[in-house]
Amino acid sequence: MTQEQQDLLIPPYGGKLVDLVVSGAEREALMAEANRFPSLQMTDRNLCDLELLAVGGFSPLDRFMSKADYQRVLTEMRLADGTLFPIPITLTISKEDLPTREEWITLRDARNYIIAVMRIEEVFRWDPTREARLVCGTTDHRHPLVSEMQQWRDLCISGELKVLNLPVYYDFVEIRRTPAQVRALLAEMGNRNVVAFQTRNPLHRIHEELTKRAAAQVGGSLLIHPVVGLTKPGDVDHYTRVRVYKALVENYYDKHTTVLSLLPLAMRMAGPREALWHALIRRNYGATHFVVGRDHAGPGNDSAGKPFYGPYEAQEMMAQYEDELGVKGVQFQELVYLVDEDRYEEVSKVPPNAKTANISGTQVRDEYLAKGKLLPAWFTRPETAQILMETNPPRHKQGLCIWFTGLSGAGKSTISEALVPMLLERGRQATVLDGDVVRTHLSKGLGFSKEDRDTNILRIGFVASEITRHNGTVICAAISPYRATRNEARKMVGEDHFVEVYVNTPLEVCESRDVKGMYARARRGEIKGFTGIDDPYEEPLNPELVLDTVETTPEANARKIVAYLEARGFLNSR
Ligand code: ADX
Repeated sequence: MTQEQQDLLIPPYGGKLVDLVVSGAEREALMAEANRFPSLQMTDRNLCDLELLAVGGFSPLDRFMSKADYQRVLTEMRLADGTLFPIPITLTISKEDLPTREEWITLRDARNYIIAVMRIEEVFRWDPTREARLVCGTTDHRHPLVSEMQQWRDLCISGELKVLNLPVYYDFVEIRRTPAQVRALLAEMGNRNVVAFQTRNPLHRIHEELTKRAAAQVGGSLLIHPVVGLTKPGDVDHYTRVRVYKALVENYYDKHTTVLSLLPLAMRMAGPREALWHALIRRNYGATHFVVGRDHAGPGNDSAGKPFYGPYEAQEMMAQYEDELGVKGVQFQELVYLVDEDRYEEVSKVPPNAKTANISGTQVRDEYLAKGKLLPAWFTRPETAQILMETNPPRHKQGLCIWFTGLSGAGKSTISEALVPMLLERGRQATVLDGDVVRTHLSKGLGFSKEDRDTNILRIGFVASEITRHNGTVICAAISPYRATRNEARKMVGEDHFVEVYVNTPLEVCESRDVKGMYARARRGEIKGFTGIDDPYEEPLNPELVLDTVETTPEANARKIVAYLEARGFLNSR
């Protein structure tokens, strides 16, 4: 990058990019010491914050906030020195973990890898309710940050940071860039104006329109800058989203003026304040302009069903502070699709009586993806439709675990035998994890103590969860006598994919059948801890299905299961 190119770009917020990463001999020396300092394990949110502090994304902030910074940010959106900064960035610790002798602490990630060392210069108390009210404008626990904050620890710590290892990523490495790297790319493009676009959702035609209009309006480069740190719980995962962004940038944007780069930000979903914060961060990445559309960084509705923030509140806040931030808001009203003209337009410019169309996020999920229906071309590009369809298969292609429970001899294996070919006939291939068979390999050596029985069931649950995670079908047929352990299995597999089938055959019936001669042996005392005889069987409280085997044949029971699966959408209607 030439000096001339560099001078073209807007300087970072506060004048200089913060860089907390140490290298060479200093790093070596600190790595050796870091293992002797007391440790603090950071949350994923802390780690995202620390990464952005380290590379200058939050410049001029160079540490987790001190008390003076924190208090003033809460009430005035300013650091202690007056710099506008709308969101608190804190690191919390519980009292027990606070070192008493050492002034340095080692910050580690969830796997205990060393990320940084920090000199503890300040420790202070904070109040989650106050922070929620001032920053998020609400104390309603429906707000995802407000409820999360309850789990943060009691004390904030602040002080000088030395970052020894930035988090390592293995996905999309070619488009993960620091502010300095993005700046270099933008400088090479040679445009003074750069408009950044923030997103946490898959891009549809509407967003393509927004970004292209913004770039045309600003007359410069476009930085598509999606968040891949933490977004709103329940959002589309970043792997899927980034595949979409890459396909779109490749096929529909001008290569000479567009940069796609990923941002490891932990969003707060704090609406208007968050919009300012987003703009400030993008300035550090080289942007002069920032798109703020409808309901920017909004977390949806509160517990009374009202939106947490007004649809254009973020735009108003942006307009008020854009000069001070040095990043101009590029504001758009809600865009809608004009059916007859086949184009998008801002809602206030829609001619009266014009036919409009829209597909909401919920409709995308329930009416298209869940039914295996491709999204229409006016709504999204075919590449996007395809990727979303692949990653959100319809119910009949999703994982399924049929979990039989019932006494020995109740009929679990027999019903499974009838069920498997019926599923195959409907295009589902199933793996059967039969209790007796599992005990010959996966659980070989385990006995019938409570502990061994639990281990056996949890192993089956684990395998079942792996199968369903990869959209497979698994039939588990083990006595699984304990309610709590069955519930563990249900949790492992996931509620939406777990069908508990209680084969409710009375003990007397099982005993009179005694297919394996086990009841007789248990009665004679030759087997100890036999379920129903001298070990308990806990009936399921809310199984998805209860089957009777006295009046109903195994075939009829298997057909009942098929009918249930069909009603739930787990089998394709023929
Ligand atoms: S956000 O939480 O990152 O704001 P999202 O990815 O949905 O969510 O939005 C990215 C940007 O596009 C925001 O500036 C948002 O206001 C804008 N936006 C999203 N959908 C629309 C829409 N239908 N009309 C106008 N602007 C929109």
